[in-house]
Amino acid sequence: MGDKALRTQVAIIGAGPAGLLLGQLLHVAGIDTIILERRSGDYVLSRIRAGVLEQGTVALLEQAGVAARLHAEGLRHDGFNLAYDGARHRIDLAGLTGGRHVTIYGQTEMTRDLMQARAACGAPSLYEAAEVHLADFDSAHPRVTCLFEGQRIEIACDFIAGCDGSHGVSHASLPAAALSLHERHYPFGWLGVMADVAPVSDELVYASHERGFALCSMRSAHRSRYYLQCPLGTEIADWPDARFWDELRQRLDPQTAAALVDAPSIEKSIAPLRSFVAEPMRFGSLFLAGDAAHIVPPTGAKGLNLAASDVHYLAEGLIGHYREGRASGLEAYSQRALARVWKAERFSWWMTSLLHQFPDSSPFDRKIQAAERAYLAGSRAAMAALAENYVGLPF
Ligand code: APR
Ligand code: PHB
Repeated sequence: MGDKALRTQVAIIGAGPAGLLLGQLLHVAGIDTIILERRSGDYVLSRIRAGVLEQGTVALLEQAGVAARLHAEGLRHDGFNLAYDGARHRIDLAGLTGGRHVTIYGQTEMTRDLMQARAACGAPSLYEAAEVHLADFDSAHPRVTCLFEGQRIEIACDFIAGCDGSHGVSHASLPAAALSLHERHYPFGWLGVMADVAPVSDELVYASHERGFALCSMRSAHRSRYYLQCPLGTEIADWPDARFWDELRQRLDPQTAAALVDAPSIEKSIAPLRSFVAEPMRFGSLFLAGDAAHIVPPTGAKGLNLAASDVHYLAEGLIGHYREGRASGLEAYSQRALARVWKAERFSWWMTSLLHQFPDSSPFDRKIQAAERAYLAGSRAAMAALAENYVGLPF
């Protein structure tokens, strides 16, 4: 087995949206990167994730030069619906936020666009890199080693960006004493179904029902994405299509239920819900970004958008360092990123708590939850607070 020594400015661990977006922003700024990804490109593209982009995320994709298809195919949404107690309540995002909106565009499509842009600019990506190991990140000369195509590779760099998700090697490389972990597990999961059928409604519907939460989302005018709150321990085999559609219909308001069309599922998956933050997000020359540092439950669609805002702060810090010899951006990174992370953690926890059934809740808890939903449906101030967070807080 041969050895190979490489050198780059920033070694990026992980080719999910965080790593790829950081790579493109740095490429546009003339900064060299190497991306190391444990999986194959096809595997990364087979993962189905959320699909709601904040305007700040779209602006970053524009800055990275990868927004053409997003602008052609993405769906602009000026509102969404909450459904409970038999009625639909529209949250007029644009009207409540001075004209802001969100864009529906699958994370998979965004990842595909970023991968193509990286391939086109010739920046190196090592897919199926095994035994990725981070070293000397407490110094100014960090290194990353891995096994790639049968060769032992060593990459010398100035900085390491840990964009390797919640099961990655980056935060696992840190001494336990260096990290504060904050975590909440929810006593349920989401069962997701993709189907090639027109969405049940022009805008998303988040439904809260005594049988559990349900969400009607979409990827395009012909592809729908639906979710059901399900108990922990449930399996995909427990959910043949007919049961899924029947359960979904029962949880929706009559207007939405009447419009729902059953269709064969083309994908089904189950994910538990979790809130998680690891602090701080910087250790010497190692910077964590995206799911490597934090997880939100999917209610409110903040995961991808938070990865994007981390990457914005990190790219700004790195560009300041290389262009102007300024350390302040990198020094402020963890604090700036975490300030926004915690607000999104709060919002995702709140929206999850508002709309799901908690198996261990008391009758009092359920009355308070119902009162909060009723308050929201009748108060413009409460709706404005929801809308402001949903469209995304400023960077
Ligand atoms: N070495 C190299 N790559 C790794 C390693 C490792 N040891 N461990 C994990 N990876 C890769 C994963 O295979 C994955 O492709 O890091 C990538 C991390 O990507 P994501 O999990 O998509 O995380 P991130 O880029 O932060 O994106 C956040 O994705 O999970 C959703 O809800 C989340 O939408 C949010 C977005
Ligand atoms: C999705 O379309 O997958 C989606 C949309 C909104 C959410 C979560 C997921 O809050």
